[in-house]
Amino acid sequence: MRIEYKLLPGNERKNPPPEGTDLPFGILRTNHMFVMDYADGEWFNPRIVPYGPITLMPGAMCFHYGQCLFEGIKAFKHADGEIYIFRPDQNAARQNHSAEVLCMPSIPVEVQLEAMHRLVDVERDWCPSEPESSLYIRPFMFATQDELGVKPSKTLLYCIMLSPSGAYYKGGFNNVVRLLISKKFHRAVSGGTGTAKAAGNYASSLRPHSYAQSLGVEQVLYLSADNTSIEEVGTMNHYHVLKDGTFVIPEFGDSILRSITSVSVLELAATGKIKARQEVVYLDKFIADVQSREIIEAGGFGTACVVSPVGGYIFEDGTELVVGNGGIGEHSRKLYEMYTAIQTGKAPAPDGWLSRVARY
Ligand SMILES: Cc1ncc(COP(=O)(O)O)c(C=O)c1O
Repeated sequence: MRIEYKLLPGNERKNPPPEGTDLPFGILRTNHMFVMDYADGEWFNPRIVPYGPITLMPGAMCFHYGQCLFEGIKAFKHADGEIYIFRPDQNAARQNHSAEVLCMPSIPVEVQLEAMHRLVDVERDWCPSEPESSLYIRPFMFATQDELGVKPSKTLLYCIMLSPSGAYYKGGFNNVVRLLISKKFHRAVSGGTGTAKAAGNYASSLRPHSYAQSLGVEQVLYLSADNTSIEEVGTMNHYHVLKDGTFVIPEFGDSILRSITSVSVLELAATGKIKARQEVVYLDKFIADVQSREIIEAGGFGTACVVSPVGGYIFEDGTELVVGNGGIGEHSRKLYEMYTAIQTGKAPAPDGWLSRVARY
């Protein structure tokens, strides 16, 4: 792909934060972004330009009908000084799935990967190497056609921006969260947009999320529409650990986001490194198994938080449920250590998991 580079002169560039800075998650920006236009049935004008405002007409359909999607990927600086992106091909494929769900055009996986690689190469000085830090890559696509009327936009913009980031939660892995198991709010339904990283899914999670926070817990654990089975958290898949150390992830179905972290955990299990499987997790059985200590740990999987231990749950009627000892379990800790060692090059990665950023 012929990418046009319009880079800032050296003296107009911001410098990356010095090594050792305690980085927030998702706040800092690098100097450049990748942008590509879509019109007349094709993608064109791929370019790397200074990070800055995008001009849109007030009638741009993204503002009115929410035809927007995004992805989230991490790149890590290894001890050899090179930068490695973690499973970007998986995110690229999922982006095309989200695009299909939202009636948006796909972008060939190779094109998405080249765009990411070229942008990260330009910004390689911004990739941190402290523990729990990464260069967070945020591709996104949105409708730009200036027309009122609910239909797929004929014009779109695809961008990639970067954010050097620390752990998602302050305290990183050691931050134990509690979840509201909600029977009142639902994230997605069968036949809806739950399997896509559609911006609207996150807009509709804001109210349940602030309700959960008003009850003193961090996030919502959503149930199926009939309130019988556990689906996922607003920003991560859910897991629990059985007494024998098996990780159980709810079956993806068609209302749960296919988390690349969950998929990777299941692939690690297939090589015999850990025990993990998927099944429909019925709420009544889950509660009984936590109470009888058949279930000893729980948590969430996601790119941003990696493995996020859950200490307990509350329900809308005020009852509480503590998992294990309410803290961090040894299985969750071991998996977190194994997974982050692979991401950061301290342990060998399965074939194809790490994509080294070329020096163009
Ligand atoms: C709703 C939802 N579920 C699960 C995940 C975890 O997915 P992944 O592991 O691909 O980041 C995310 C984050 O991307 C999410 O937003």
